Amino acid sequence: MRILLVGATGTLGGSVLEVLRERGYDVVTASRKGSDVVVDITEPGSIQAMYERVGTVSALASCAGGVPWLPFGELRHQDVLDGIAGKVVSQVELVRQGLAWVTGSFTLITGVLARDPLRTGAVAALANGAVEAFVRAAAIEVTQRVNAVSPTIFTESVELYGDLFAGFEPVPVRRAASAYVRSIEGHQTGRIYEIG
Ligand SMILES: NC(=O)c1ccc[n+]([C@@H]2O[C@H](COP(=O)([O-])OP(=O)(O)OC[C@H]3O[C@@H](n4cnc5c(N)ncnc54)[C@H](OP(=O)(O)O)[C@@H]3O)[C@@H](O)[C@H]2O)c1
Repeated sequence: MRILLVGATGTLGGSVLEVLRERGYDVVTASRKGSDVVVDITEPGSIQAMYERVGTVSALASCAGGVPWLPFGELRHQDVLDGIAGKVVSQVELVRQGLAWVTGSFTLITGVLARDPLRTGAVAALANGAVEAFVRAAAIEVTQRVNAVSPTIFTESVELYGDLFAGFEPVPVRRAASAYVRSIEGHQTGRIYEIG
C-alpha cells in the first residue's frame, strides 16, 4: 500500500514514518524541505502539484499544521487568519483535492486544545476544533474514510512546550503514531482519536 505522509520530517511525522515503514508500507514523504516531494500546504497550487507528482495513493496522512501561540490580547486579525490557513484550510484542501487521488483514507492532525484550552492557545483551540468538526462532516459525504488524531503534548516535545502544558501528562509520540495506523488500517470514519 502506498501512503503519502505530509509533515514527515517533524516530531510526529518522523514517528508516523517509522511506524508505517515498520509495517511494510511504501511511504512517500512531503514537506517544505527534506522530503521526497516539496509541498507547502498553505498553497493550493502546491498541493495540486504534489498530488500530480505522487499520483494515486491508498492513504493520505497529515502531520503538518502550524498555528501562532500568543496571548489573546496580543493576537492580530492576521494571526487568526494565519492559524486558520496553516492548520484548517490547509488540511481541508488536502482532503478536497485528495478526493481525486486518495482511494482509502485521510488522517488529519488536531490536538488536545480542542477540548482542553490553555492560555495563548486560542487560535490552536479554534483550529483544532474546526478540523475536528470538518472531519465529522466530511465523513458523511465522501467515499474515502476521514479521521483525525488529537493528541496531548508529546514526551519528545516537553522541552519545547512543557512550561505551557503544566500538569498535562505527556504521551510518547509513538502512541499518536499508532492512532494513524488505526485510522489507515481500520474501518472507522468520522472519528477523532484522542490520545492522552
Ligand atoms: N508536538 C506536540 O506535542 C503536539 C501535540 C499535539 C498535537 N500536535 C500537532 O501535531 C502537528 C505536528 O507537530 P510537530 O510537533 O510534529 O511539529 P514539527 O516537529 O514542527 O513538524 C512539522 C512538520 O510539518 C511540516 N510543515 C510545517 N508547515 C508546513 C507547510 N506549510 N507545508 C508543508 N509541510 C509543513 C514540517 O516540515 P517543513 O518545515 O520542512 O515544511 C515538519 O515536517 C501540529 O499540527 C501540532 O499542533 C503536536
